[in-house]
Amino acid sequence: MTGDDPDAGLAERRGLDEAVVYQPAEDSGLLAEAAVSEAHGRVLEVGTGSGWVAQQIAEERGLDVVGSDLNPHAARQARDRGVEGVVADLLTPFRADAFDTVCFNPPYLPTDPDNEWDDWMEHALSGGESGRELIEPFLDDAGRVLAPGGVVLLLVSSLTGYDEVLALAEDAGFAADPVVEESFPFETLTVLALRRE
Ligand SMILES: C[S@@+](CC[C@H](N)C(=O)[O-])C[C@H]1O[C@@H](n2cnc3c(N)ncnc32)[C@H](O)[C@@H]1O
Repeated sequence: MTGDDPDAGLAERRGLDEAVVYQPAEDSGLLAEAAVSEAHGRVLEVGTGSGWVAQQIAEERGLDVVGSDLNPHAARQARDRGVEGVVADLLTPFRADAFDTVCFNPPYLPTDPDNEWDDWMEHALSGGESGRELIEPFLDDAGRVLAPGGVVLLLVSSLTGYDEVLALAEDAGFAADPVVEESFPFETLTVLALRRE
């Protein structure tokens, strides 16, 4: 805290949180668009980052939304937005059948292991060498936490390999439908709705 300003400590903390938490970008906007249209029931946003996507779902649809993240600064930022923010590694702590909708904008950039930089932003961006290192375990466990009739909304980048992610989803027992798609100069982003086959 500096000087006589009682809010300076809070402002400083918010500044630090923003520096180490992924802030809303085009991918966040696309996931929010799909989620506002498709979400129902109890909602979990995995890797909530700033909590902005979770906040859109809660405000636009009036649904109960939990935002989880490995990064404690992110969980705190989500709580500052009024979202129930919790620290969690993917789906590990959640009960079977706990959610009707599970959203995830995963860290997806393929990253050379020699170029990993080991901080919270790397956790937000790097999908390991294939770009799918978080997507794979997420899909393996998603069916467990999903209630009957539930839907997973997963953002996929062409950089990560669209066909490869579709194959992983099928292996995990899901049928996939694209909900929204947008092309940018370096990648095409798609949000897939995944439902149990
Ligand atoms: C691309 S950012 C997306 C942030 C936010 N959902 C958005 O769309 O703006 C990916 C998020 O996943 C989180 N993350 C990375 N590994 C995770 C893990 N094992 N479990 C939970 N969250 C994780 C990162 O901390 C980061 O906040």
